[in-house]
Amino acid sequence: MEDLTLKVEQVVAILTETVRNFAPVTFANSLGAEDMVLTDIIDRYHLDIEMFSLDTGRLPQETYDLMQTVRERYKTPLRIYFPNVKQIEDYVAEHGVNGFYQSVELRKACCHIRKVEPLRRALQGKNSWVTGIRREQAPTRHDLQIFAHDADNHLQKVNPLLEWTNADVWSYLKQYQVPYNKLHDQFYPSIGCAPCTRAITPGEDIRSGRWWWETPETKECGLHASKAVSVNKEAKDRAQ
Ligand code: ADX
Ligand code: SF4
Repeated sequence: MEDLTLKVEQVVAILTETVRNFAPVTFANSLGAEDMVLTDIIDRYHLDIEMFSLDTGRLPQETYDLMQTVRERYKTPLRIYFPNVKQIEDYVAEHGVNGFYQSVELRKACCHIRKVEPLRRALQGKNSWVTGIRREQAPTRHDLQIFAHDADNHLQKVNPLLEWTNADVWSYLKQYQVPYNKLHDQFYPSIGCAPCTRAITPGEDIRSGRWWWETPETKECGLHASKAVSVNKEAKDRAQ
């Protein structure tokens, strides 16, 4: 338990430093387990950080239920961003409502319209954004840093839970009785859009239920396709 207290203090210190050096700060809140930890900490410590969710239009009902609960329980307002209507209409006219199953390119194009473009708008005028990314979640996340320049979006990106384990996240949620997505109790450790997320079986990788038809290397939606990752990787490769 002391370990958890220390970890929470570290997160508060990281977020306080972010507010001091990179204001205005906004938090990208997917309402996943990690993001509920950050929601609770930001609200509990009255940190001057706004938060937003990207509503892709294809989220599971359980995520909408949690969105409503967050609105009722926390003082920090959760601003919801929607995709551009014209872009969605054109995509659906050309590829169909479920066109994203046809190829990785069409899947990424859907993620671009439903997540990446709205993210650009959500980040406008901000100097930094906070995410709930953890290092152990995926091979694409192994080389990240807590503070990094986000070259794609031209601002600072902060990952305060980077070194947290899944067990850390759940001990926080339990200890502070934080509301969480009901799908987590049905073997959905990682939740995105309904048609692109499924339950996993015990022992499977925690992101194996996301875009399950793709290989782990392609499993990013473009929100975190930062050049900062490749810069780190190149530097590492050079050092070897
Ligand atoms: S994803 O890129 O594969 O969808 P993941 O679900 O692991 O990402 O979430 C990683 C982080 O991205 C979250 O902690 C959150 O900061 C941000 N994020 C992902 N989806 C959303 C969303 N719909 N709205 C706001 N932030 C999101
Ligand atoms: Fe589209 Fe699936 Fe990406 Fe959601 S996760 S934006 S439905 S491709």
